[in-house]
Amino acid sequence: MKLLVTGFNGFVAGSVIAQAKGKWEVHGIDLAEIPTNDPHIFYHKLDLLDDKKLTDLFRKIAPDAVIHTAAMANIDVCQNNQERAGQVNIGITKTIARLSHEMGAKMILCSTDSVFDGTKGNYCENDTPNPINFYAETKANAEQIVLSASDKNVVTRLSLVMGLPVMGQGNSFLADTIEKLKKGIRIPFPANEIRTPIDVITLGRALLELAGNQFSGIIHLAGNSKINRYQIAREIAVTLGFSPDLIQSTDSSAMEGRATRPNDVSMDNSLAKKTLRTPMLSLSEGLELTLNFKI
Ligand SMILES: NC(=O)c1ccc[n+]([C@@H]2O[C@H](COP(=O)([O-])OP(=O)(O)OC[C@H]3O[C@@H](n4cnc5c(N)ncnc54)[C@H](OP(=O)(O)O)[C@@H]3O)[C@@H](O)[C@H]2O)c1
Repeated sequence: MKLLVTGFNGFVAGSVIAQAKGKWEVHGIDLAEIPTNDPHIFYHKLDLLDDKKLTDLFRKIAPDAVIHTAAMANIDVCQNNQERAGQVNIGITKTIARLSHEMGAKMILCSTDSVFDGTKGNYCENDTPNPINFYAETKANAEQIVLSASDKNVVTRLSLVMGLPVMGQGNSFLADTIEKLKKGIRIPFPANEIRTPIDVITLGRALLELAGNQFSGIIHLAGNSKINRYQIAREIAVTLGFSPDLIQSTDSSAMEGRATRPNDVSMDNSLAKKTLRTPMLSLSEGLELTLNFKI
């Protein structure tokens, strides 16, 4: 079975690809020049905005499943570059949904808890999105495209993803936090932003399971701990032996230059627990898994 993963060099894709090895013939696409000498992983350097080259590659690979992680995933960058964010997060999704349908491949989109406005919390799959920043607007739009392209497709809404990069790079807030803690830098985290963080290893497993099973529709991939970002960072500091006093409590509205974030986008993970063999974990279990994970 062939698996195509977009965003090869990204944070989430690294976990997916590392754990797919030996179980899938893995193909990955990204923008960067990435040397790979693993005979089981095929890397294709390509700008996904290039429709023609993407179409040719897609037809050549003929994937059975596609995990679409590539995106402009930085909320503030999206807010300040809306045209590009629309092209990447909506335009590319549209092309991949069309090609997946054409090839009979199942497509799994990585969407976000941020599609909700954060006024309620404990969101279920059938709650209605109401984005409050441009990034979330592009993702809500992408969700509709993927769901209407084929009834095989899956929209995964990811909660805050926590962990160390398994391969490649990408935006790991855990890695950034550790670097700052090592230097003794005090770091502000918003206590009003409530999340249900999922570790990147569990997430990779769940995405692979969804690529290979019969589930279709929307599913929330979230951990078992409902906790604010200040508390998350304190737990990380304590677990790693740093002083929790280096973590400072702040409020989103006091953090200048940031696009608006929703307050409480905690998600109900009951469907994931019922549907998947991959267990959803608490924050401390997820931290232990990601800190000790070896390929
Ligand atoms: N991380 C989280 O906490 C989180 C939470 C909720 C949802 N999500 C969603 O999950 C997905 C994966 O997130 P992530 O944290 O792994 O993001 P990431 O680390 O930023 O990875 C995204 C990858 O996509 C690549 N990419 C972007 N535009 C491309 C293009 N035109 N052609 C080819 N490759 C391109 C990026 O390359 P460059 O770096 O060179 O641009 C990057 O390697 C995203 O869709 C994100 O919206 C993430």
